[in-house]
Amino acid sequence: MQQIQVISIRNQGKTSAGSYQLMSHKPLTITAMAKDKTLYTCNDCGATTPRWLGKCPSCGAWNSLVETVAETPASGKNRMGAAFAALAPSSEVRPLAAIEAVDVARTPTGQGELDRVLGGGIVEGGVVLIGGDPGIGKSTLLLQAVDALQRSGLPALYVTGEESGAQVALRARRLGITGSQVSVLAEIQLEKIIATLAAQQPAVAVIDSIQTVYSDQLTSAPGSVAQVRECAAHLTRWAKSSGCAIVLVGHVTKDGQLAGPRVLEHMVDTVLYFEGDTHSSFRLIRAIKNRFGAVNEIGVFAMTERGLKGVSNPSAIFLSQHAQPVPGSCVLVTLEGTRPMLVEIQALVDSGGVSPRRLSVGLERDRLAMLLAVLHQHAGVATGDQDVFVNAVGGVRISEPAADLAVMLAITSSLRGKALPKGFIAFGEVGLAGEVRPAPRGQERLKEAAKLGFSVAVVPKANAPKKADKAFEG
Ligand code: TYD
Ligand code: MG
Repeated sequence: MQQIQVISIRNQGKTSAGSYQLMSHKPLTITAMAKDKTLYTCNDCGATTPRWLGKCPSCGAWNSLVETVAETPASGKNRMGAAFAALAPSSEVRPLAAIEAVDVARTPTGQGELDRVLGGGIVEGGVVLIGGDPGIGKSTLLLQAVDALQRSGLPALYVTGEESGAQVALRARRLGITGSQVSVLAEIQLEKIIATLAAQQPAVAVIDSIQTVYSDQLTSAPGSVAQVRECAAHLTRWAKSSGCAIVLVGHVTKDGQLAGPRVLEHMVDTVLYFEGDTHSSFRLIRAIKNRFGAVNEIGVFAMTERGLKGVSNPSAIFLSQHAQPVPGSCVLVTLEGTRPMLVEIQALVDSGGVSPRRLSVGLERDRLAMLLAVLHQHAGVATGDQDVFVNAVGGVRISEPAADLAVMLAITSSLRGKALPKGFIAFGEVGLAGEVRPAPRGQERLKEAAKLGFSVAVVPKANAPKKADKAFEG
């Protein structure tokens, strides 16, 4: 509510002093009613527009605008600008050379595979966002990690918004964790969480999950774009100012994106994704952003009765078990982070109907369409009237183009109904002109395959072993 005093010039005539006389009127109160204004907020980038649009004018995402009520923060302090300003405390301008490059101190989480994706461990004041399908093991892994950190001497706080303390205790028992000193708080209100953080001063805190947390300052529902963004900004600010490492658990939408605005990913230091098939026991964690380490590193886990166990030698877990080679299957050596891994690509080509389907699991669908076109144009293999299904075994997602050759070979093998030779692998990128381009670090890939007993390889020429490599002769 605003009071506006209206002063009018009543007497336009000159006064004796020679100046215009201002006469004060009775103060007129204009009540500016705070009207609920509707805004449309993009789920991807957080941009707002006054009208609904099919396409976000800021990031170009389709159908990402959702109706939100324009927030009028109680005080200027809560505006997003202020939240971000606090992320970077003001400091004097100095030449780069004068700034000391200090290495960040890391504390290993006791889970070798998690440390690998984090770049060595938890960093003081670092904020990690970890996303994944429900039931994939986010809470399990984080409970194991905070317990190990607590035991190594870092006070840890586990904030659960989805489960009760008793449920967390039940999970701990299942994991074989006894006598744990980790503090557990079942709370979803941001202000109370921050107050607890301030009182407890933990060195590491897990917020499970950020979508359940809400702030009193905003009127929108928990899980809405505005709430998620605001709460994450506040927690990030807390991490930076207090030095507490914070892990935010995030939900993912149906198409595997982190729910909530993209801006979350920009706010935090590290973004990790859980992937894998919930029906198989293997889980992958991929770093897609890391200010403190390498990206595209992956950690591999197996879900056991006693929680997630790291798999330190994962190269052969994504092969299916066939005694004899079958048509439509080709093994690919993919390089995930620093480790080569063997993944079986399966294809099924089946006579299709009027509009044949192209489906891929774990591989990009657009890329599949492109490879089918290349197969047709440059190799004369027509699949125009056929359904084509391609699957990467074990729920692993493959994004590198080096998979092209294996995908094409699997498709051709299925179409012809002929299996590839026993002990066969392939990798290499295929271009639109039909050329095969080399894959990075080909020698390492070949070595890994040879170690696992593969003896025949089709690879780009530039990836061929320099000196006669016994394993791949003939
Ligand atoms: P959870 O960590 O609750 O998943 P998220 O937090 O990502 O939703 O994992 C739940 C699943 O993991 C559930 O399906 C049971 C399974 N699980 C095990 O197989 N072994 C275990 O020791 C635990 C604790 C869970
Ligand atoms: Mg959970």
